[in-house]
Amino acid sequence: MNEHVVIAIDGPAASGKSSVARQLARRLGYIYVNTGAMYRAVTWWAVSKDVPVNDPVRVQQLLHFTSVECGLADGESTMRLDGIDPAAHLVDEAVNANVSAISSIPDVRRLLVGKQRAYAADQDVVMEGRDIGSVVFPDTPYKFYVDASPEVRALRRARQGLADSISARDKFDSSRRNSPLIIAEDAHVIDSSSLTVDGVVGEIIGRLKLKGLLPADYL
Ligand code: DC
Repeated sequence: MNEHVVIAIDGPAASGKSSVARQLARRLGYIYVNTGAMYRAVTWWAVSKDVPVNDPVRVQQLLHFTSVECGLADGESTMRLDGIDPAAHLVDEAVNANVSAISSIPDVRRLLVGKQRAYAADQDVVMEGRDIGSVVFPDTPYKFYVDASPEVRALRRARQGLADSISARDKFDSSRRNSPLIIAEDAHVIDSSSLTVDGVVGEIIGRLKLKGLLPADYL
């Protein structure tokens, strides 16, 4: 059992979970961990080194010889690969196109899940991703699954100036063998299609009050 609080927020691409998780973490004073950014960072690293993303052995070899450091800046997770900050490249076209392949490699998941668990070793966290409630922290009592209709998600992606094929990525992420995107049995599901970020955060806070994590008069 983890000694620190973990609030797990899972959901498909462009469901609004990143904005929700970040705002919730700020309100509670917890750290915010974006695990999608970690898979994206490794994808960028492989692509920039011309390592074929569908070759698990080559990807594993690359990671074996790479220093992968996770840290924090302003209460949010950061990553460095051989000392390089990949932040500027995380939504590159090549990353969008290849992140599902990279994140289906068991060795990549093992490495990153270890780093994700380490964040909660000495601080309270809001962590978002695909498998946080199902695999990374299955024992946390605070699990949320944020969804939205495919139309709303496509619109949100377009507003971010991105045109990646989220439906193809979701299909791949939900059907892969290792830690697929699923709704954990005990997760509270929120349809954010017609809600604002504040609205979703409010619903989560209401739920955390019911579960006794926050006092009933918490504002
Ligand atoms: O949240 P995102 O769209 O930035 O995530 C990018 C990809 O990373 C997503 O298509 C699947 C993968 N991912 C994953 O496999 N497990 C996670 N916990 C988070 C993301």
